[in-house]
Amino acid sequence: MIAPLIDSFGRVHDNLRISVTDRCNIRCFYCMPEEGAQYMDRAEILTFEEIERFVRAAVPLGITKLRLTGGEPLLRRDLPLLIERLAAIPGIRDIALTTNAVLLGKHAADLYGAGLRRLNIHLDTLDRARFEQITRRDDLTKVLAGIDAAVDAGFENIKLNIVAVKGLVEPDIVPMALYCRERGFEPRYIEFMPLDAQSLWGRSRVLTADEIIAVVSREVAPLRAVPDADPRAPATEYEYSDGGGRVGFIASVSKPFCMNCNRIRLTSDGKLRYCLFAIEETDVRGLLRSDASNEEIVAVIRGNVAAKWVGHEINSPQFVAPPRPMYSIGG
Ligand code: 5AD
Ligand code: SF4
Repeated sequence: MIAPLIDSFGRVHDNLRISVTDRCNIRCFYCMPEEGAQYMDRAEILTFEEIERFVRAAVPLGITKLRLTGGEPLLRRDLPLLIERLAAIPGIRDIALTTNAVLLGKHAADLYGAGLRRLNIHLDTLDRARFEQITRRDDLTKVLAGIDAAVDAGFENIKLNIVAVKGLVEPDIVPMALYCRERGFEPRYIEFMPLDAQSLWGRSRVLTADEIIAVVSREVAPLRAVPDADPRAPATEYEYSDGGGRVGFIASVSKPFCMNCNRIRLTSDGKLRYCLFAIEETDVRGLLRSDASNEEIVAVIRGNVAAKWVGHEINSPQFVAPPRPMYSIGG
């Protein structure tokens, strides 16, 4: 075992998020432009072999947890094969997938068969018109069928990501909480972050965790903070005091958790990023496509983590939004 990945603020990194594509089949306004999304050329996208090679190089540095994201990862053909290959790497303990579930009906059983056990499904509303307003696509029925297929395939502890946009999703807070509570899913309310493609973000459009906690506590059942929650997890975990399950909050704007960050990110075109909001990034695709040694890849990973900043500065006037929107970085 070589020295773990520790940055200059003492944060240990064991978590790698891998974007497998920048393409998406819907158009959530807080992530993608309505028209003219700039996709990468296919030749720029890492192959499964290249992704696997990168992960094998990163594991000895203490990377044990992976999350596959996009774009929409299920648009990547044969994704279950990648999951099988990654799950077979000694040292990988946990693999999760974030998906919008439009294609989950088709793929849930194969994903489970490949060894995937953790799913985060992106869904903000159960209202067809608002779904279309947010995603610019009329696919709510497919998403709900995809979720049902995931349950039938055997997935447990499914989490639902809800982007908390003020002036928009207030009517959905309670219906989403009830839908999750009935099915044993955990809703995760994610504060709207400045990662959209059309610069629509503004502080006044962030529905904060505290505001949602108040509504859910009043209208569903009282919530209390989970006492033994993992302090390094990005979500602040709450539970219903009547035993009705958990509710998570990603309060990136109102309560930044950067000091607990344990994550690095690999974009679909092979750039390494130490933060969702990083301005700089390091190319690893060149190394992965050459006969570079594992040591060279390791050195690049260490260099990227060594350069990691203390955290995003969404709350400071100097904040600069990253040059790529969410779909291009990977959530
Ligand atoms: N702010 C907050 N969350 C976002 N997501 C996408 N765009 C944004 C944004 N601008 C969420 C989606 C997706 C997850 C990876 O990130 O819910 O599921
Ligand atoms: Fe697609 Fe996810 Fe972006 Fe929505 S948030 S457009 S589902 S990548």
